[in-house]
Amino acid sequence: MADLNVKIGELQMKNPVMTASGTFGYGEEFTDFIDIARIGSIIVKGTTLHKREGNPYPRMAETPSGMLNAVGLQNKGVNYFVEHIYPRIKDIQTNMIVNVSGSAIEDYVKTAEIINELDKIPAIELNISCPNVKQGGMAFGVTAKGAAEVVKAVRSAYKKTLIVKLSPNVTDITEIARAAEGSGADSVSLINTLLGMAIDAERKRPILSTITGGMSGAAVKPIALRMVWQVSKAVNIPVIGLGGIMNWKDAIEFMLAGASAIQIGTANFIDPAITVKVADGINNYLDRHGYKSVNEIIGALEV
Ligand SMILES: Cc1cc2nc3c(=O)[nH]c(=O)nc-3n(C[C@H](O)[C@H](O)[C@H](O)COP(=O)(O)O)c2cc1C
Repeated sequence: MADLNVKIGELQMKNPVMTASGTFGYGEEFTDFIDIARIGSIIVKGTTLHKREGNPYPRMAETPSGMLNAVGLQNKGVNYFVEHIYPRIKDIQTNMIVNVSGSAIEDYVKTAEIINELDKIPAIELNISCPNVKQGGMAFGVTAKGAAEVVKAVRSAYKKTLIVKLSPNVTDITEIARAAEGSGADSVSLINTLLGMAIDAERKRPILSTITGGMSGAAVKPIALRMVWQVSKAVNIPVIGLGGIMNWKDAIEFMLAGASAIQIGTANFIDPAITVKVADGINNYLDRHGYKSVNEIIGALEV
């Protein structure tokens, strides 16, 4: 069996498989299907300073080989997380990472400060790329200046591993990745959802209450793969790849393109055991190709 350990900043992971925020709840929902401790890291739902109701329904639409969502960061706020959710999840035997979202820099900073105090949370993922909130969210992630400002502010407040999640809804994602790196990010993860739209022709209305929403799933994979490849050549910090990973082969492709770890999102809705299947598939691939460590395939694409 190959060595599957990877490191992201100070975050030590038993394998490179992570769950994507908003698609795996707080992990507990999946314990009937799999041993969730076998997952390298679990990234929990987007957490904001204050409670958010999310967007009105309908906020999901199926598309060929993918889906659109406009959940809008529904959550009970960081204090509720600390009091009620953290005690339930803190002893899960894998890394529990909080996805921190916000609509103003001060909100991101305060949320990160509160999470910094939690012993059993070794990292945060800063979501500067959510397309489903009116203010902030993606706004920070679409300019290098905006990304630099929010990352710098959070970096001074947050002492553990800081992952910054990038938006694909930009002209040059490498520019934003470099801004995040230059402002103190330990890692970048990409991609968040692509802005999309669905229309009901009979009713002559948009399907989503928000009109536009975030596209995810198999259909976005080639775009995500291209962006991971570009970003991994542009920065020196580890890149976490996601977007349309449906099986172990997809995961290997992202790692060959330069990802040090990968996240699985929409695929969890189709197969709740997909994360452990991907970890097993990566292991088999490494054995078959005679690799001793998963680190040997990171960026090993031959071009
Ligand atoms: C229902 C749903 C909710 C999501 N919520 C969040 C969130 O709260 N924070 C975040 O950073 N990304 C969120 N995302 C984006 C995913 O984490 C991921 O970046 C995206 O879906 C692409 O990966 P995938 O194609 O494997 O799903 C959400 C995606 C979906 C489908």
